[in-house]
Amino acid sequence: MHSSQLPPGHYGLPLLGETLSFIFDRQFIEKHYRKYGAIFKTHILGKPTVFMVGPEPVEFVLSTHMDHFSWREGWPDNFKQLLGESLFVQDGEEHLRNRRLMMPAFHGQALARYLTTMESITQEYLQKWQEKREFRWFEEFKQLTFEIASQLLVGAKPDSEGRDLNLQAGKTAWGLPTKTSPTLSELFTTLTNGLFAINPLPLPITKYGRALAARDQLLQYITTVVRQRQQQPTNDALSLLVQAKDEEGNGMSLKELTAQAMLLLFAGHETTTSMLTWFCLELGRHPEVLQRAREEQLALAEQGEISLELLGKMSYLDQIFCEIERLHQPVGGGFRGVIKPFEFNGFHVPEGWQLVYSILGTHQLVSIYPEPQRFDPDRFSPERQEHKQKPFSLIGFGGGPRICLGIAFAKLEMKIIAAKLLRSYQWKLLPQQSLEPVTIPTRRPKDGLRVRFEQINHN
Ligand code: HEM
Repeated sequence: MHSSQLPPGHYGLPLLGETLSFIFDRQFIEKHYRKYGAIFKTHILGKPTVFMVGPEPVEFVLSTHMDHFSWREGWPDNFKQLLGESLFVQDGEEHLRNRRLMMPAFHGQALARYLTTMESITQEYLQKWQEKREFRWFEEFKQLTFEIASQLLVGAKPDSEGRDLNLQAGKTAWGLPTKTSPTLSELFTTLTNGLFAINPLPLPITKYGRALAARDQLLQYITTVVRQRQQQPTNDALSLLVQAKDEEGNGMSLKELTAQAMLLLFAGHETTTSMLTWFCLELGRHPEVLQRAREEQLALAEQGEISLELLGKMSYLDQIFCEIERLHQPVGGGFRGVIKPFEFNGFHVPEGWQLVYSILGTHQLVSIYPEPQRFDPDRFSPERQEHKQKPFSLIGFGGGPRICLGIAFAKLEMKIIAAKLLRSYQWKLLPQQSLEPVTIPTRRPKDGLRVRFEQINHN
């Protein structure tokens, strides 16, 4: 028998619904889950919405019933406007084709080629941090990961001041004068700030308006680079995309390539920045974990330089990153549009609704992760393996056929940076700073993690 009963929950205020508490209340999911359970209804970002929390509901959304859901209809309009017609908002055949075309740039041999560049850029930053001694790590990681992403993905090399030569100073897309040209990374920050802007009015003074202007400048820049790669491919990921062909021998158009490159640059640094910052913060707060991680690195260092093979042996570092992914997931959840009505746990969800599968809520379930607030990398030790009791328990990168395209790229990059930090450096968290998490647009400690940094003298 079919149920016509909607999931429990309430819609909140007229028009606004519960949008404000969804954005600003860090306990939004927890409170609703405690009251209503694994599936509940609300109204956010202008739509009736159902939230699904926990391994079984998430498996339903990401895998067994994924044909009931659309990415395009799911992600808020701001995302579509700012990130363009990219993989992130594509569905069905179109998505499948493009994902296949993009996959080789993020796996296998391509990854192996990225290692040296990742390592040498990291080395430059370690040197810089050693000279600086005190800095805000969130901002520094953002520059580092952006430099890695822009060099490997689109072959952009910022000049000595960090300003990219291809961007023109003078006027923004709104005709407003600028003193200096913004760096690509600054433009992405402006763009990111517009993703969750509540009032998306396209005026120069609103976050959203500024984000649109940044998008236009980025598109202009990326289009130029795509044209260059079409004429003369190099060895960056974009060149692989430019040359990729589907079974019928067709490649992506200029417009498609530009949108995909923009998405990759965006997705390729905000999230890794967040996880690296929390990694350094938690190790700063847990000297016993830091010590064990350092011992692992020093033992491996005797086997030689960092290589793919050596990275595969860093099992304690892997445990730490799993715990960072669980406790400090950079992406709180994924949006979908319901394109076929469905039933779950006896509740009916109509077509046209918005759905959010909750990464944050799933990672906080006491039934899977006892004392979920505690930072404990041993949850992932071979003996405990808390995330293996049920599939879809650790979902910081999503899951199923549309799992994060850059997962291997991100893990490679984060592990190289972490290994180099652990082998030769130490850091102290500076006093009088707020380490409270801010979640939008990217999860980070409020004051950006201020540290004192120095090289270790192993003698
Ligand atoms: C710590 C780093 C990262 C995290 C936590 C992360 C997280 C995620 C998550 C949760 C999703 C799925 C969203 C959903 O189901 O709605 C996703 C998808 C995606 N990510 Fe990542 N990501 C990371 C790094 C990267 C990197 C480095 C790239 C590319 C260079 C990337 C590119 C993508 C793309 C293209 C998709 C869409 C895949 C598809 O729909 O087929 N991500 N990511």
